[in-house]
Amino acid sequence: MDIVATAKQRYTAKAYDTNRRIPDEVMQQIYEVIRNSPSSVNSQPWHFIVASTPEGKARLAKGVQGGYSFNESKVRDASHVILFCTRVDTEGGHLDRLLEQEDRDGRFADEAAKAGTAKGRLHFTNLHRYTLKDLPQWYEKQTYIALANAMTAAAAVGVDSTPMEGIDVAALDTELGLHEKGLSSLVLLALGYHAESDFNAKLPKSRLPQEQVFTFL
Ligand SMILES: Cc1cc2nc3c(=O)[nH]c(=O)nc-3n(C[C@H](O)[C@H](O)[C@H](O)COP(=O)(O)O)c2cc1C
Repeated sequence: MDIVATAKQRYTAKAYDTNRRIPDEVMQQIYEVIRNSPSSVNSQPWHFIVASTPEGKARLAKGVQGGYSFNESKVRDASHVILFCTRVDTEGGHLDRLLEQEDRDGRFADEAAKAGTAKGRLHFTNLHRYTLKDLPQWYEKQTYIALANAMTAAAAVGVDSTPMEGIDVAALDTELGLHEKGLSSLVLLALGYHAESDFNAKLPKSRLPQEQVFTFL
């Protein structure tokens, strides 16, 4: 894979071909890239809700009404739409769940190593919870890493995508009962194959030049 070609080929699709569906095995690859995303102290403060049926997409479309309706056709017409949800706190035993998974995955040579990881994770979690008071924002940053990986992975397997921050967070949280699970909506990602009518497919990519965005020491 030519990673630079993949990055340049990825663009934000604005209209989808309603007749084309992403094969399940391709979606499984994208799910695995998302799940394997890195996060600070391996916090994995995320949950992903996938809609690929008209009924499922109609539920997510409740988050792209009114002032967000410029995104509605992407949600309804794409093959799959993923809602990236982020944790707002550690309630529900999240830290314990992480630690036990790491134990099952063979990360700890002994109990001392396990206790050390728990202590380190709690230290940084409490730094953001009590000192910086930005735990939800810190968690959001981690979830955005998964979004970026999903978009690059999709491009690598020839799938078009649309990240959407233009969403009604409150409407989606209510529709999906996210608060009861300690979660909140963050961003939508439509996935599929662009339609002929997609004006953005024909436009050149525009980025600031390397000398403006990099400083080499
Ligand atoms: C976090 C994020 C949120 C975005 N939200 C929207 C959105 O709500 N609707 C939309 O059509 N495009 C959205 N975009 C697409 C950006 O406008 C687009 O990425 C940017 O103009 C660069 O163009 P490119 O993706 O085609 O390279 C979003 C992009 C990002 C990364």
